[in-house]
Amino acid sequence: MLIQLNEIQQVANEVMNMLHEEELEIINDFYDAVKAKDIEKIDELFKVVLFDVEDHFKTEEDMMEQANYVNFQTHKSDHDTMREKLKKFHDRWEILKSPKEVQGFLEKDFKKWIKLHISKWDTETALHLGHS
Ligand SMILES: [Fe+2]
Ligand SMILES: [Fe+2]
Repeated sequence: MLIQLNEIQQVANEVMNMLHEEELEIINDFYDAVKAKDIEKIDELFKVVLFDVEDHFKTEEDMMEQANYVNFQTHKSDHDTMREKLKKFHDRWEILKSPKEVQGFLEKDFKKWIKLHISKWDTETALHLGHS
């Protein structure tokens, strides 16, 4: 397991909390496959991760736009940074098939990023959006 649910801050919007919970499950399954060096499973789950992250980010961005959230662009650009990193590491995975590299990315980069992103941007955005 890479990230436990209680390591992630709860925010003031239930849709966002659901997105986060779902993402943790997917990331943790992915991490297990990476640690097991199960190439086929990593191939499959990497695509699931990319799809789920895009769904997570896009849903938040749509909600922010609808609510005319003032810091929309800054929040979105933090998503874009992670979109680019995931794409870069997926492209490298396709060539290198290195579970070790993916493990390093998840442990040293993604984990810190998601915890910080949720405790800063998602928390602030959720307060603006309120319950929905
Ligand atoms: Fe989020
Ligand atoms: Fe976000």
